Amino acid sequence: MASCTYLNSSSSSSSSSSIMMLSKPKQPSIVPLNFLNTQHLSSSLSFKSLLITNNEKSVRFRCKQTNRFCSSIVASMDKSRVPLKIMISGAPASGKGTQCELITSKYDLVHVAAGDLLRAEVAAGSDNGKQAKEFMEKGQLVPDEIVVMMVKDRLSQPDSTEKGWLLDGYPRSSSQATELQSFGFKPDLFILLDVPQEILVDRVVGRRLDPVTGRIYHLTYSPPETEEIAARLTQRFDDTEEKVKLRLLTHNQNIESVLSMFEDITIKVDGSLPKEDVFATIDSALSDLIEKKNATLDMAAI
Ligand code: AP5
Repeated sequence: MASCTYLNSSSSSSSSSSIMMLSKPKQPSIVPLNFLNTQHLSSSLSFKSLLITNNEKSVRFRCKQTNRFCSSIVASMDKSRVPLKIMISGAPASGKGTQCELITSKYDLVHVAAGDLLRAEVAAGSDNGKQAKEFMEKGQLVPDEIVVMMVKDRLSQPDSTEKGWLLDGYPRSSSQATELQSFGFKPDLFILLDVPQEILVDRVVGRRLDPVTGRIYHLTYSPPETEEIAARLTQRFDDTEEKVKLRLLTHNQNIESVLSMFEDITIKVDGSLPKEDVFATIDSALSDLIEKKNATLDMAAI
């Protein structure tokens, strides 16, 4: 049976009205009309009811003026055409990097990790890197003058624009969020990994990195596959019990102000579960998001 999405609206011109979207017939969900391109809808889509049939790549709707059914071919239903813009946040060692590995391998997004960008500067011995290291060693936020442009430049690269991006560990303050918005970077989804503090220290102390593949391991929860990998693993300079407590303090001081700016697009995920289970929740949210974004594009293509 073809999978269908039904959209119904009593009025197409009011931004306060809502559309009933039934992606699976038994699980209706209300999607605000302003999620769609309302300007386009109100000017060109004076519809009573709308049926999108994914398999047929067409859309059928009843015109208000004529009360007749019309149909239109939509450009493409290829899910890969929608570049996602995702932010992932959480306390130190909540599993951001681990989930980013899984997300990027399935969704092919460009992973932009503020911590990795900073560590690259530290390793290069640049002036920015020297300054940044002083703050990182104390578990404090590196000043915006260094971080903001670094992140903005990476998000502006052609690969991020074309494939979409997964921003890890940024923003960590309301000023960073505001700066990003001022450059026109607007996320579709904000993922918050929620992990009790008592688990975090254990995760940090046992974390190891593979300098060859960039993969993240844990001596207990995610041990290296071979002796050869085990022999080359390294530890981050800020991965000590003392330093993670300082990083946690900084996180706790800032997280509420960041969350308040992304409330409407935030999903909170239990990050204490095994990494595959954490990913399953994120994967499902991303699939839903792609479906909604495609529906929006399909409306605009009519
Ligand atoms: P950053 O590198 O971003 O560090 P962090 O935020 O402290 O986060 P981590 O990288 O430590 O942890 P993670 O959440 O990625 O966990 P992971 O997946 O590795 O930042 C470092 C420093 O840079 C900051 O302190 C700050 O000074 C500076 N900085 C960064 N961004 C900045 C910004 N925007 N502004 C200013 N300064 C900034 O997992 C951890 C361990 O747990 C691993 O061993 C993993 O195998 C294991 N694990 C993961 N998931 C699970 C699971 N579900 N079950 C069991 N084990 C798991």
